[in-house]
Amino acid sequence: MSDTATLQLPGQEPVELPVITGSEGEKAIDVSKLRAKTGYITLDPGYVNTGSCSSSVTFLDGEKGILRYRGYPIEQLAENSSFVEVAYLLLHGALPTTQQLDDFNDHLSKHSLIHEDMKHFFEGFSTTAHPMVILSSMVSSLSAYYSEASGAASVDQLEVNTARLMAKIRTIAAFSYKKSIGQPFIYPQDKLAYCANFLNMMFAVPAEPYEVDPEITKALDLLLILHADHEQNCSASTVRVVGSSMANVYASVASGILALWGPLHGGANQQVLRMLERIHADGDDLDKYVRLAKDPDSDFRLMGFGHRVYKNFDPRATIIKSACDRVLNLLGVDDPLLDLARRLEEVALSDEYFVERKLYPNVDFYSGIIYRAIGIPENMFTVMFALGRLPGWIAQWKEMHQDPKTKIARPRQIYNGETARDYVPIEKRVAG
Ligand code: ACO
Repeated sequence: MSDTATLQLPGQEPVELPVITGSEGEKAIDVSKLRAKTGYITLDPGYVNTGSCSSSVTFLDGEKGILRYRGYPIEQLAENSSFVEVAYLLLHGALPTTQQLDDFNDHLSKHSLIHEDMKHFFEGFSTTAHPMVILSSMVSSLSAYYSEASGAASVDQLEVNTARLMAKIRTIAAFSYKKSIGQPFIYPQDKLAYCANFLNMMFAVPAEPYEVDPEITKALDLLLILHADHEQNCSASTVRVVGSSMANVYASVASGILALWGPLHGGANQQVLRMLERIHADGDDLDKYVRLAKDPDSDFRLMGFGHRVYKNFDPRATIIKSACDRVLNLLGVDDPLLDLARRLEEVALSDEYFVERKLYPNVDFYSGIIYRAIGIPENMFTVMFALGRLPGWIAQWKEMHQDPKTKIARPRQIYNGETARDYVPIEKRVAG
């Protein structure tokens, strides 16, 4: 017999609501019939307690600092896997065989060019345009080139659309950078692996040979793995919400990119670096900025600190922190901001305000320092996050479309505006 929860509402008979148990023992009360049975809705601003779906893509336990993709711990994937393999895992639910991985890589190489006409789009953006808005516009424009991408049809065509998205997003990202610095576009090269191909498009110039540094490729691969999915976060939920209207996968992903851009979500990685630079320029006065972050009258927050779900530690931050040491050592980079970040973490973690609120460094706290060390400019940090998160978005989109319980996303509200009143002709109105 399945569990139920009993809800007693004023003036009504008790209502039995099904209790759902996930494969890791987590519990939910199924309220999908609540309004039909009682006339009540649930109210949960920011969806702090609301499960929007059942999913088998990613498991995380914020109290224990656990993150697993398709059951595999993030620590093991970070140690042993590659970004392309992790993308395959998220999309297909199982690690690929050698043949499957080779085929997937071939598929990604085959689709890496963008239509030549799309190159002209870059000219339309102002030189100050943030690369995230360019990325989102270009990704949504892809649906103009692939007619089979529209609506429901794109579910059947998902294999090819996934390859297109994953292959072309790299090219678009690198071209938007080249455009911003006035250098010619460097085309993708099939012989290069996923991350090396991207780095080549970013940093090669036609005038001289460019060798992709394997240590930099490895560091980028790790960062993309760590960002590849994070269950129902703001951008993944956006992708699902938009996709639930049967919008095509390109449009859905483009919306996810814009949601990710916000400084409280993926945009935090750029803000962290700006914050560290500001503190450094201000004489490394950590106490002043920790004080400011705690001041309820100030807008200042410690960027890269805190998480809706992680209330112990973010396992991705732990991996990135040690990768930071390794990568900077290997590349011989001595960045005062790394030392500052470490000290800031120490000061914050011994401060009652942060301890009480369970605020720990999140994935964005150290990632910017590695990006900077490997030559990625600050305004491209969130674009890098988007490159990493793409397979997760597509896996979530695919799962949503395959779930027979999926309905168009349409929350309700509690209305607290004016009650009914009569229209007033303009000559009789008084300024309110
Ligand atoms: N610095 C200072 N105080 C903070 C911080 C912070 N970074 N984060 C949360 N708090 C405080 C809040 O002011 C609040 O205090 P109060 O209880 O006295 O009002 C309390 O901690 C709870 O914070 P909420 O904003 O309610 O927590 P929520 O779960 O809604 O927000 C979020 C999570 C958005 C990540 C928040 O911690 C934050 O703004 N962090 C900085 C931005 C950031 O790093 N974002 C990246 C997140 S990871 C990602 O998206 C990839």
